[in-house]
Amino acid sequence: MRQSSAVKAKAEKMASKLLYVHTFGCQMNEYDSLRVQRLLGLEGYAVTENPKEADIIFVNTCSVRAKAEQKAYSLLGRLKGIKVRNPNALLVVGGCVAEQQREKIIERFPHVDLVIGTRAISRLPDMIKEVRRTRTQKWLFPESEESCGMEWLDSSSPMWKTGIVASVTIMQGCDNFCTYCIVPYVRGRERSRAPQEIIAEIRSLIAKGAKEVLLLGQNVNSYGKNLDPPISFSELIKMIASETDVLRIRFTTSHPKDLTEDLMKCFAEVPELCPQLHLPFQAGSDRILKKMNRKYTQTEYLRKIERLRDIRPDISLSADVMVGFPGEREEDFLETLKVVESVQFDNLFSFKYSDRPFTVASRMEPKVDEKTKSRWLSTLQALQAEITLKKNLAEVGSLREVLVEGKSKTGRGQLTGRTPQGRIVNFVGPSSLVGKIVAVRIVEGYAHSLKGKLIEE
Ligand code: 5AD
Ligand code: SF4
Repeated sequence: MRQSSAVKAKAEKMASKLLYVHTFGCQMNEYDSLRVQRLLGLEGYAVTENPKEADIIFVNTCSVRAKAEQKAYSLLGRLKGIKVRNPNALLVVGGCVAEQQREKIIERFPHVDLVIGTRAISRLPDMIKEVRRTRTQKWLFPESEESCGMEWLDSSSPMWKTGIVASVTIMQGCDNFCTYCIVPYVRGRERSRAPQEIIAEIRSLIAKGAKEVLLLGQNVNSYGKNLDPPISFSELIKMIASETDVLRIRFTTSHPKDLTEDLMKCFAEVPELCPQLHLPFQAGSDRILKKMNRKYTQTEYLRKIERLRDIRPDISLSADVMVGFPGEREEDFLETLKVVESVQFDNLFSFKYSDRPFTVASRMEPKVDEKTKSRWLSTLQALQAEITLKKNLAEVGSLREVLVEGKSKTGRGQLTGRTPQGRIVNFVGPSSLVGKIVAVRIVEGYAHSLKGKLIEE
């Protein structure tokens, strides 16, 4: 008897093993989650959106702010019910909280089966088999960066963001030791990947249909310093532009102190480099910047912004900023507002400071009370919401080159893509345009996106 294709598809689905991934935190974590999907995909696991039907649940945690860490714990608590109903499901915890709180996780959540370090992901499939075989709780954290530091990269397994936009990790770790930041303790020292390996991965992504690459690293501006021979980040960008067929290049994240003239000039000299830069300033007050160990002043930051706009007037700028750093006073916060007013960022990510374990700032006094932090955060966010909307409205009437990334979630027949500045544009068009750069007239501006009209394919 012949099986109908629908029945066959259903049977295949039932037979395949399912993986549910929940990601907290930054793009580096998103990238790691894609690696998990890819590695377990090779073992026959398909991705599901429903943790209840999963054979493996992978929680990728972030510890950069206390709130993200708390959210991870509450999710792990909630997942206990799923494990009770389905004891065969494996619960795996990875990411930065796993790096730092492995004992606490094991102790507080006995239903967790495996805790795995960020530098051990390539060994996840083996570890899963091991846990299934021995039926005991395990953890894996390679201590040596020498032996394991680069295993996170495997040029034969490129990672995807949308299929059109691909993320490529170029370095990991951070040596800056900003006093509030946990990253150096969880992600280790700075390590850069060899340029030829990066080029090879990008070529292979392009062969599979990628048009844009997003270069990732905790501090991409200091890329290549420790390689032999050393190479600068601007040299890497130029190599990628000339040695591959990539249409668009973006990168994140940058430290203002390492933003060189050379790199700024790339925005004018390298046509593939999109006019978009995320440049966290963290605080406006020089007194607070010093306590944060950021190694620049407000004036120096503003000068770099000015220089960037001289070089590339249409560049779009975004930043991270914190309110309520220990010892921050009203007059310091006003300096932060001043920076936001004067730069007019296209986008701003603002956070309440929270103490993180081991950091120097966690031992600094006096702490700012929660009420003040909340007041400052809402003032800042209200100001930025006005600026972002104003900027999006100013786009109305302009003609933009949009790289089409796929179908839009906003409605039937709509496509979604980004302008060179990184603004999201939704517009009606045929799906044959996915992966192409098209001319779109902007007809409406909203808080987080734009609406466009297709002009030319
Ligand atoms: N508290 C609050 N925000 C923080 N960030 C980093 N550490 C902390 C902390 N301890 C913010 C910074 C950084 C972003 C990723 O998270 O703004 O750029
Ligand atoms: Fe969070 Fe930092 Fe870890 Fe990214 S690297 S997940 S931001 S703590």
